[in-house]
Amino acid sequence: MKLRRWIATGAVAVATVAALNVAPATAGRPYDPTTQSLGDLALRHGLYLGTAVDMDALNDASDPRYRQLAATEFSTVTAENVMKWESLEPTRGRYNWGPADEFVAFARKNHQRVRGHVLVWQNQLPGWLTSGVADGSISKAELRQILRDHITRVVTRYQGRIWQWDVVNEAVSDPWDTPSTLHYKGFWAQHLGPGYLADAFRWARAADPKALLFYNDYNIEAFGSGNPADDKTQFVYEMARDLRARGVPIDGVGSQGHLGTQYGNYSTFQVVDALKKFAGLGLATAFTEVDVRSQLTEAVRAGDSNEINPRLQAAAANFSVLLRACLAERHCLSFTLWGFTDRHSWVPDWFDNPPEGMATVYDENYRPKLAYQELKADLIYSGPPFVLPRVPQQPRR
Ligand code: XIL
Repeated sequence: MKLRRWIATGAVAVATVAALNVAPATAGRPYDPTTQSLGDLALRHGLYLGTAVDMDALNDASDPRYRQLAATEFSTVTAENVMKWESLEPTRGRYNWGPADEFVAFARKNHQRVRGHVLVWQNQLPGWLTSGVADGSISKAELRQILRDHITRVVTRYQGRIWQWDVVNEAVSDPWDTPSTLHYKGFWAQHLGPGYLADAFRWARAADPKALLFYNDYNIEAFGSGNPADDKTQFVYEMARDLRARGVPIDGVGSQGHLGTQYGNYSTFQVVDALKKFAGLGLATAFTEVDVRSQLTEAVRAGDSNEINPRLQAAAANFSVLLRACLAERHCLSFTLWGFTDRHSWVPDWFDNPPEGMATVYDENYRPKLAYQELKADLIYSGPPFVLPRVPQQPRR
């Protein structure tokens, strides 16, 4: 009985995947999956594979490879900076939509789905907002109204064009913060209290009933102690559970996936376990900002292969752990890299003491690294019964 059910499930799965995975019957030429893009290979599983897009690099005429790869290798894109508040409203009341519009048009032209990033975050806020609050010229009541207007304006402008919105980003502290007990951190929690989270999701839903609404954070790839006082994944899990229980329209949790080869690695099973628990709440999941950085020691900078090779291998393994976990959990809808080339990566700018880099899947000259090949292999050599097509997520009313 069990066996028969197993075979039947397998047969349905094979048929579904076969339908998704029609190998192009080019006359005389055998289908070679290694020549396909990451985006196309991921679609065999119903998964969207993406990158963050840096608009300056995209518009740099002396660097055409960036635009070409951004356009062809990926099936979903995220604006690395141009949808952040400081970029959209540098002067109060004057929205600068140009770069964000251009980004959305680029995605549309290339048939890519868009992850909207980001509506509510304590970083990259415009100066007029933070200084107005600091000097008391913006009251708490006014601040709440300003946030509501911002969410409504931005979501309305791109209504129908955004697949997933990062509604709230990085709201939870880390164990190294003070106090070390995990808590809601940053500008919005300080000035509005944690109630702003539920408000933000409700305002976003009112402005676009069809976009999937995500909470997004880092260091939530796997569970730790299980105690929300020091386990950030557990804290976020309980937060999402409470929001769902209260009927707040949250549809997904985004796990950024900023990893480093100097840290202990997670096993694929630990990551699958976390994705499963979020799915158990009725939520979709996504990896939203994946990169794997390494320390650039003197030997690395001098080109010493004894130090470079282990980093390339460890990075490939880390990328692979997150992708395989995502493939294994059918509610994991997308896998986005935070940049695809070391030529344009936020890592060297942000992690400079000690210097870090080598965080993406193409080197500075757009040569695909081992990590790129292993991501491809994971997409090619996976399928039923343990890797099945994605389960579409319906926006919660
Ligand atoms: C980073 C960008 O990559 C940088 O260019 C910018 O200077 C700072 O922000 N978590 C996030 C992203 O949610 O928005 C951040 O992006 C990286 C960390």
